[in-house]
Amino acid sequence: MRSHFCGLVDEALIGQTVTLCGWADVARNLGGVCFIDLRDHKGIVQVVAEPSDAAGNAEVLAAAEQVGYEDCLRVTGTVRRRHSVNARIRTGQVEVVAERIEVLNKADPLPFHHHENPGEDIRLRYRYLDLRSPDMQRKMRTRTKLVAALRRWLDARGFQDIETPILTKATPEGARDFLVPARMHPGEFYALPQSPQLFKQILMMAGFDRYYQIARCFRDEALRADRQLEFTQLDMEFAWVSERDVQDTVEAMIRDVFREVVGVELADPFPRMTYAEAMRRYGSDKPDLRIALELVDVADLVKDCGFAVFAGPAREAGGRVAALRIPGGASMSRKQIDEYAAHAAKFGAKGLAWAKIGGNGEATSPIQKFFDASAFAALLSHVGAGNGDLVFFGAGRYSTVSDFMGAVRLKAGRDFGLVEDGWRPLWVTDFPMFEWDEETQRYVALHHPFTAPAVDDEADLRANAATAVSRGYDMVLNGNEIGGGSIRIHRSSMQSAVFDLLGIGREEAELKFGFLLEALRYGAPPHGGIAFGIDRIAALMAGTDSIRDVIAFPKTTSAQCLMTGAPSPIPDEQLAEVHVQVRPQD
Ligand code: AMO
Ligand code: AMP
Repeated sequence: MRSHFCGLVDEALIGQTVTLCGWADVARNLGGVCFIDLRDHKGIVQVVAEPSDAAGNAEVLAAAEQVGYEDCLRVTGTVRRRHSVNARIRTGQVEVVAERIEVLNKADPLPFHHHENPGEDIRLRYRYLDLRSPDMQRKMRTRTKLVAALRRWLDARGFQDIETPILTKATPEGARDFLVPARMHPGEFYALPQSPQLFKQILMMAGFDRYYQIARCFRDEALRADRQLEFTQLDMEFAWVSERDVQDTVEAMIRDVFREVVGVELADPFPRMTYAEAMRRYGSDKPDLRIALELVDVADLVKDCGFAVFAGPAREAGGRVAALRIPGGASMSRKQIDEYAAHAAKFGAKGLAWAKIGGNGEATSPIQKFFDASAFAALLSHVGAGNGDLVFFGAGRYSTVSDFMGAVRLKAGRDFGLVEDGWRPLWVTDFPMFEWDEETQRYVALHHPFTAPAVDDEADLRANAATAVSRGYDMVLNGNEIGGGSIRIHRSSMQSAVFDLLGIGREEAELKFGFLLEALRYGAPPHGGIAFGIDRIAALMAGTDSIRDVIAFPKTTSAQCLMTGAPSPIPDEQLAEVHVQVRPQD
């Protein structure tokens, strides 16, 4: 249908006849002459219909005058140099003088044009119109390049791409499962994989040595800018390895792929930080190192003050009192400070104390009254606060304080323009093996239940479960967890011990994971791996905050596809076929 792409018509084609296909991005009728910006996936070129030119031009002009937004056109014409050059587009030196304009498909009046931003709901409802925009085309292309570069890298190094089932048994990664009724087995269900975790481990036991898969994963969990119900992992597994073998390999891969796809040179090597250090300094297990602000522990300086909210946690083993200095923060109004308190409250804070230091060195603070003057001055000086600064304080349980002060740190970094440019990757290591869940009063796995503990001995693990460290690791980039993995348990007895500590009884373990426990007994090699969030890496590369921008057809935060209308009710007959009856909502 076409001889050239719109976006690639250039000076080399001057004088030649071209046939182009595309959408009418903009049509301007100046009376007697019409300009049409014709757009395809490569870009835009200006088409002009004017009466003084080639034969048949009256017809051409008449056709051009009828063209509306997003009509599908086929244009034949001659390329010539443009009078007024448009330096912003690649084809800006030239234009195509139309000799024939065919309307291949007339578009109805549009609900919106991609030049506007009508809000995300409308964009998602008409996703095909949204995706036509050059910006969305660019973002999606970045994703394509990322996946292609990863595949090339892995194929060149002997990793074997193996598909694993989508209809399967639950693989726990800490979210709810999506279930699919099994028609042939009334009352039974398949689960969609939260990740290919167990299959990839079993592939190592099956002798494949190095595996990867661009794998779709399904997790029924609360959606956010960086979370979707279904998302894509680069999933990898290695046999006969220790942590450093896996980490060094994938670190080199990520460095190479960032260089190739976006021309970014990442640090070599990536810095490494333990989970404990990340929580202490940044209040997060995925610290954004582009923000230089750090939390400062002040328990020692407040343990004897008259404010029980501080003195209590300062003295308790599981407590924390932390401060965060915000340079120049004294300019904040009460309303702004209250916004920080409200933000902290979302992360579990019961309050957010503060101190401002005026230009004259005078401090103002709701908690000053609980200290004598010299103790308060010592506290502020320990935090390094000077004139014009503001200090926030958080007190309470160690993990709660870390969480909300970490969130305050991120907000302050953004609000005060303290996020440096650039790319700051790091490894976070030495995660706790277990986390105590107050609600269910039992341990849950911080990574997943197949992650090996640092100790080799089951009795040792049982005796020190609360403080046990795992062999898990995360890769973090600019405050995003882009990958997570671990060395796995490869002995059946250790796996049983971990299930036991997680409150998964012998019978339940056998029912859910019997096949794994069995496979571990028949010569399972030491193995480990990692999975990267493709959507998150693509979003970072494309320079967008939301993974929805690099997923062609994402779900909204209320878990719907606005274009297709999924999810939707199913007729009774079809439900009966799969032996399902819907319970009324209570
Ligand atoms: P994990 O659960 O850490 O590990 O997932 C790996 C990576 O996948 C991305 N990710 C997500 N991206 C978008 N939406 C989501 N809902 C979502 N959840 C996770 C993150 C994360 O780092 N089986 C293990 C891997 C292993 O141990 O090898 C796993 O799935 O970038
Ligand atoms: P109050 O005397 O209760 O008004 O508290 C004095 C200040 O301490 C207020 O600014 C509260 O926001 C703050 N505050 C209360 N609880 C905490 C807490 N757990 N951590 C940090 N600040 C707190």
